[in-house]
Amino acid sequence: MRPCHAAIADWLKPLNIPTTIDAVGNLRAFYPGNDPAAPRLLIGSHLDTVPNAGVYDGMLGVVLAVALLEELGGKRLPFGIEIIGFSEEEGVRFGVPFIGSRALVGKLDEELLARRDAKGITVREAIRQFGLDDRRIEEAVIGEDALGYIEFHIEQGPVLEKAERQLGVVEAIVGQTRLALRFLGRANHAGTTPMDARNDALACAAEWMTGVETRAKENPGLAATVGSIEAKPGATNVIPGEVRLTLDVRHKHDETRSRFVHEFIGLAKEISGKRGISLQWNALLEQNAVALNPFLTDQIDKAIRNSGCEPYRMNSGAGHDAMILAERIPSAMIFLRSPGGISHDPSETVLQNDVARAIDCGVHLLTQLASSQEFLGRTCRA
Ligand code: HGY
Ligand code: MN
Ligand code: MN
Repeated sequence: MRPCHAAIADWLKPLNIPTTIDAVGNLRAFYPGNDPAAPRLLIGSHLDTVPNAGVYDGMLGVVLAVALLEELGGKRLPFGIEIIGFSEEEGVRFGVPFIGSRALVGKLDEELLARRDAKGITVREAIRQFGLDDRRIEEAVIGEDALGYIEFHIEQGPVLEKAERQLGVVEAIVGQTRLALRFLGRANHAGTTPMDARNDALACAAEWMTGVETRAKENPGLAATVGSIEAKPGATNVIPGEVRLTLDVRHKHDETRSRFVHEFIGLAKEISGKRGISLQWNALLEQNAVALNPFLTDQIDKAIRNSGCEPYRMNSGAGHDAMILAERIPSAMIFLRSPGGISHDPSETVLQNDVARAIDCGVHLLTQLASSQEFLGRTCRA
C-alpha cells in the first residue's frame, strides 16, 4: 500500500496537491475550490484488492479522479475536490469489508477494530503497525462541508458489454451477507474407517454447497458463493474432521436475501445433523441494498450523454464504498464496461476509449455541478 500511496502522491505533485494518509490508511488529497471556505465534492474508490486480482478494481476510480484534476488545468470550481483512496474495501484481510469508508461516516466501532486477521493481528494493531495513530480515527470523519461522493468503477460484470454501452449509471447497489461457517466432524484414518462410520466434515460441506448452488440457480437475481474453504487437518489419508468456509449471498431485495440466508443456514443444520456433524456459524457482514442519489445519477446520465455516449442505467452486483458514504452524503457511481465481464482476476481489463469517455463524462459532470444551485445549495440531499 505504501508504494501505491507514493505513486498517487507523485501524480499529484505537478498539480501542487499534497496527500495525507488518515488514521485508517485512506489516502486523502484536497484540491481547493475558488473560495477557501467552499464545500467539497469527494471523488475516489478503494486501493486495496483481492488475491490474484486485476489492476483496475478500485484503483481505476482513483486514477480517474487524478485525471479529472489534471483536466481542470488549475481551474477553480465553486467547490473543492477531495480525492479519496480507501483502504480495506474488499474485506480480504479481516473478513469484513468497507473498513476505510466506514471510518469516514464514523462507523469504525470497537467491535470492528478488534477483528483479527489470519495471524491474530487486530485492525487496531494493523493501524499502529502501518505507523498510524489509532487515537485519531475520528479525524477521518467527513465534515459538514461534504456535498457528495462520486465513484468511477469498472462494472465487473457482463451487462454493459452485452448492451454494447461504454458507461453505466448505477442506480442502486445490491445488498450482501457474508457468513463464516464451521463444520465439525471427526478426523479418522482414511484407510481403516468404513464409509458408513464417518463424520466427514468436508463431505458434509460439499453436499451443503451443492444444495446452495442448486437453490441459487433456481432463483435468478440471487448470487451465492463459497469463496474460501479450509479442510483440516488437510492430509490425503485423514478424513477431514473440520471445515471452515465462507458464504457470500447477494440480492437486490433485502428481504429475499435474508430469506435465502435463513434457508441456507437451515440446509446446513439439516445436512450436518444427518451426518453427525456439529455446525457453528456467524455473520461477518449484513449490508442492505443502497439506492444512490437520484439527483447525482440524473447528472451522471446527462454528463454521459454530453460525452457522446448512450448511458445505461443499472444496479451493481458488487459492493462499493459508495454504499457506505451514501448513508451520510449524496453518492453516485459511473461504471466503465468490463470486457469479457471478468473481474477479481488478472484478465480484468478496460478499453482505453471507454476510459477517455469516462474522463469526458467526469469533466461534464463537474461543469454541470458547478452551475447547479440544487447541488451547491445541498437541496439534492438523499
Ligand atoms: O465484493 C464486492 O462486492 C466488491 O468487490 N468489494
Ligand atoms: Mn472488488
Ligand atoms: Mn471494487
